[in-house]
Amino acid sequence: MSNLNAAYWQNRYAQNDFSWDIGYANKVLTDYVEQNVVKNAHILIPGAGSGHEVEYLWNKGYTHVYALDYATDAKALLLSRVSNFPEDKYLTCDFFELDQRFDLIIEQTFFCALNPALRPQYVDHMHRLLNKEGVLFGLLFDMDKNDGPPYGGNADEYVGLFQNKFELNVLQKCLESIAPRLGRELIFEFKKK
Ligand SMILES: C[S@@+](CC[C@H](N)C(=O)[O-])C[C@H]1O[C@@H](n2cnc3c(N)ncnc32)[C@H](O)[C@@H]1O
Repeated sequence: MSNLNAAYWQNRYAQNDFSWDIGYANKVLTDYVEQNVVKNAHILIPGAGSGHEVEYLWNKGYTHVYALDYATDAKALLLSRVSNFPEDKYLTCDFFELDQRFDLIIEQTFFCALNPALRPQYVDHMHRLLNKEGVLFGLLFDMDKNDGPPYGGNADEYVGLFQNKFELNVLQKCLESIAPRLGRELIFEFKKK
């Protein structure tokens, strides 16, 4: 699919057509952060959309949590809910053009939204964006689907993509997925090599 650009995604928000948004912070992600990550860690959620996890973590005192999404309507949704969220911590640029460093990056329905041809670039750029020993954590789909977002994938493919640049600490079926995704998600924790 060649039209997965900023205009495409912006239009989905403008048309109120964003069914991927679960409407609340995914506990699998926020539990991990609360159990493993210090409050002053630099955290990025790329392709954050309306940013429920960003909202949750900000309200819990994670003062360096950043959202990134190039759809400006997605940013507006977060800011409309969280009036004290600093505008400059919602980055509205192309992920692949970001040049900043983080201790933790959280993945949820961003990888699957990209054209699969970009997957090697995703791996390289995640590696570049992380500080030494930084961690990429989150959820990846475990399903066959190649007809447009969300694009699927499987554990073998993810191992092949990430193993040269990351230590694959965890990559397993997620047992606590939200109901519509149960059985179709892997939870992972990859540490920058
Ligand atoms: C399927 S949505 C998921 C949003 C959010 N993670 C959620 O779960 O609600 C994918 C998001 O990635 C954003 N996106 C896709 N490609 C991007 C890129 N290259 N740079 C920045 N944002 C991008 C889209 O604008 C969209 O908001």
